[in-house]
Amino acid sequence: MSGLFITMEGTDGAGKTTQIRLLEEYLLNKGFKVVCTREPGGTPISEKIREIIIDKNNSEMTDITEAFLYAAARAQHVDEVILPTLKEGGIVISDRFVDSSVVYQGFARSVGERLIKNINKYAVGELEPDITFFLKLKPEDGLKRKKEQAELDRLEAEKFSFHQRVYDGYVRLSKRCKNRIQVIDALKSVEEIHNDIVRGINNLLEKNGI
Ligand code: TMP
Repeated sequence: MSGLFITMEGTDGAGKTTQIRLLEEYLLNKGFKVVCTREPGGTPISEKIREIIIDKNNSEMTDITEAFLYAAARAQHVDEVILPTLKEGGIVISDRFVDSSVVYQGFARSVGERLIKNINKYAVGELEPDITFFLKLKPEDGLKRKKEQAELDRLEAEKFSFHQRVYDGYVRLSKRCKNRIQVIDALKSVEEIHNDIVRGINNLLEKNGI
């Protein structure tokens, strides 16, 4: 398949949104067709599923239900947005993908990595990101940033220990997938982080002869 699939991962408040916007601008200026999207979400159906997931009134939601809802939103997202864009040779930048489920549901909620991978096989098939940027930010720093912004949703309002497990999970996963996941210190300035990401992208474009 042609095209390029880029994902952005990290704990809440790590600055993914800002970096996605900057990267989009950079790639558009280079003349690429770029689609920015997010998970859970990215399609009308997936955005509806997102509302159910993050609704603070849904406190009785089981961990397995949550894992399936993320995978369901993802299945629609892959089919409706990601694969068609890649097939046309475009670049997809997704705010989160399967790594989020592995880390949040698999590790932090203790659903288990194997179960998460199995569920997600039905949602994504063989699709894997070409490159993933993990914006590494300790949970205490991330939550501090979020609290300054707005009211916390169901996931953000989780106990500190949950966010610590998410952070540890990302660190573990990124050590295991060194070839795909590029770790970036999210305490750096916006510009420095952007430059790190651009370096990673340009290496990849060169390697793929794009
Ligand atoms: P966002 O705030 O980055 O848009 O993500 C929404 C929340 O959903 C965030 O707390 C991370 C969480 N999440 C999971 O737990 N599993 C997943 O598979 C995805 C995509 C997100």
